[in-house]
Amino acid sequence: MLIDYNAYKDAHLVSAFGLFLAIGSVITESSKTRWASALHGVALLVILITGFGMLGRLVSSGTFPAWAAGKLIIWFLLGASLVLARRKILPAPALIALVLVLGGAAAGLALWKP
Ligand code: HEM
Repeated sequence: MLIDYNAYKDAHLVSAFGLFLAIGSVITESSKTRWASALHGVALLVILITGFGMLGRLVSSGTFPAWAAGKLIIWFLLGASLVLARRKILPAPALIALVLVLGGAAAGLALWKP
């Protein structure tokens, strides 16, 4: 069964929202971190699955464009950001700025495909 392209994108976006919610709640210490960890992990997984699901429709098989490689690096960095938040390695405003810049870059890479 062919999954609708917009269904992939919607799930991709919802999981990105979940990812940022999880990171934010750890930064502000406003949630039980067990829930935030679960949300963060599931969101990362769904982002990856739906991202590659869409990529499979957009590019011919065997090709992996540079913008997608950039998104994969950002995906990894946003994955690591929860550790930064938990260990308070960066001041909260710096971490919030970093996470937002990474999110903006991830969206921009998909929009402009440089
Ligand atoms: C946490 C990291 C990520 C965030 C925040 C993110 C965010 C976004 C956003 C906001 C869009 C919508 C852009 C639009 O309106 O077309 C999008 C689309 C997309 N993303 Fe991601 N993404 C992430 C990771 C990934 C990964 C790892 C992949 C796979 C390599 C990926 C592949 C795609 C693809 C193929 C599209 C659709 C592009 C199109 O329809 O033209 N994303 N992403």
